[in-house]
Amino acid sequence: MTHARPAAVVVLAAGEGTRMRSATPKVLHPLAGRTMLGHALAAARALDPERLAVVVRHERDRVAAHALELDPRVLVADQDDVPGTGRAVQCALGVLDAAAHAAAVHEGHDGHDADQVEGAVVVLAGDIPLLDAGTLAELLEAHAADGNAVTVLTTEVEDPTGYGRILREPGTGEVLGVVEHKDADDEQRAVREINSSVYVFDAAVLRGALGRLGRDNAQGEVYLTDVLAIARSDGGAVRALRVDDPVLVEGVNDRAQLATLGAELNRRILAEWMAAGVTVVDPATTWVDVDVELEQDVTLLPGTQLHGTTRVARGAVVGPDTTLTDVVVEEGAQVVRSHATQARIGAGAVVGPFSFLRPGTSLGADGKIGAFVETKNATIGDHSKVPHLSYVGDATIGEHTNIGAATIFVNYDGVTKHHTTVGDHVRIGSDNALVAPLTIGDGAYTGAGSVIRRDVHPGALGINTAPQRTIDRWVLRRRPGTPSAVAAAAALGDEDDAPLSPQARAELARALAAQTPPDRRQSDAPSTEGR
Ligand code: UD1
Ligand code: CA
Repeated sequence: MTHARPAAVVVLAAGEGTRMRSATPKVLHPLAGRTMLGHALAAARALDPERLAVVVRHERDRVAAHALELDPRVLVADQDDVPGTGRAVQCALGVLDAAAHAAAVHEGHDGHDADQVEGAVVVLAGDIPLLDAGTLAELLEAHAADGNAVTVLTTEVEDPTGYGRILREPGTGEVLGVVEHKDADDEQRAVREINSSVYVFDAAVLRGALGRLGRDNAQGEVYLTDVLAIARSDGGAVRALRVDDPVLVEGVNDRAQLATLGAELNRRILAEWMAAGVTVVDPATTWVDVDVELEQDVTLLPGTQLHGTTRVARGAVVGPDTTLTDVVVEEGAQVVRSHATQARIGAGAVVGPFSFLRPGTSLGADGKIGAFVETKNATIGDHSKVPHLSYVGDATIGEHTNIGAATIFVNYDGVTKHHTTVGDHVRIGSDNALVAPLTIGDGAYTGAGSVIRRDVHPGALGINTAPQRTIDRWVLRRRPGTPSAVAAAAALGDEDDAPLSPQARAELARALAAQTPPDRRQSDAPSTEGR
């Protein structure tokens, strides 16, 4: 859909959001991987406005910093002590006009540059997270096509409690204005068509009307909604665009609404991916953020959460019970019951179950990070495997290398982190401690149970375990009377050596029987009797 570029978009984000009962300002609460303000700015930016303003007041520094982080070109407009959405827009218009004026001065007045904002100004509340760019574009289109002074986005809801109601002229159905719930009489409250808090105004109409708004209402606030009746009485065309899908314009005022709209947004995101060829086995327990990208024939198993900028390539299987944040999963890889952040999982690689991939992990094609393995800042080459019970931190591992079970990359000396480099075709024995800084050359081996503190050259065997001592009959002598000693004596065929009196032996047998769980005792009973 093509539309005229709006002169400005204003996002209202100055309110506290009291009903959230939160230390975090309402518009900074997230759903589907973006704050509510993030959703509003994304929709606003899709219109490609000449200027974009965000109105702040409650926790202004936090909200302003977040808005600027999302888009450095945002104009931050501070609302003063006067409350209400009308005052908020007035403050924004002041900042927008100042910016237009500065630009005009900068470019030199040549008779064309406006000294104030002119044309279409879109206003939207920062707490309508499912409002999409398409709906906004339609609103703008309708506004331009009909030459309106004001175009308001409306919808019909089952329960309009709390919303401003759209008042229409009985015969013609023309929009007369908006009455807030708290100011409405019973007849007005019966109206189910509500104001969404999304509008397009002609800048000149808006500027003129804002200066004439009062505060004579139930909340003592300057209502933006009053602009509609003023614009109409001035002879402007005030029209509504009614959307059929109320969810698109539903506002979040409390955490229950946040959860409801979060689930609905997730449902819609999943529906789109399923239509695009992704298998989602259980949509109810699968959560996918807005910026996630999935290719055809990806399978998401129950209990999967994909966050941030996670990308999953063709044929990969993720889940069950897996959380990936900013992770790249390449073609055909499998990630089972694992937790990963800022990691790359190569094509055909296997991760999990129960793996923990921390930032900076990169697993090569056909590689493996297996059960109870934690990795961090680790590059693991193609075909290399860390199959069991290991920690790999600050490491580079080559290709076709195997890290034996229970190996720890000892990266921390108590003060500083150090790096370990392991070459290609290396075999690290089980239960090694690789003490960084360390380099293990191509084709090297290390012995099981080694603590490797010095570099191992290519093709060398590194081993530093102490020779084993075996002290025969130690248990019989030093742990007499224990079940181990009795078992050992029986195995050695010299039970007479077990230093137990017949009485003590009977006691031990009784004690052992008492330790045996009841169900075992029952099933053991017949064979005991048969003896
Ligand atoms: C507003 C509308 C109501 C509409 C509803 C839709 C008004 C007077 N009422 O009511 O007709 O049906 O939204 O959700 O506009 N804000 C400011 N400065 C303020 C007050 C609010 O920036 O002084 C911002 C808030 O941060 C929020 C938005 O404006 O993003 C809406 O404010 P809120 O208090 O939620 O308005 P509602 O009472 O819901
Ligand atoms: Ca609201």
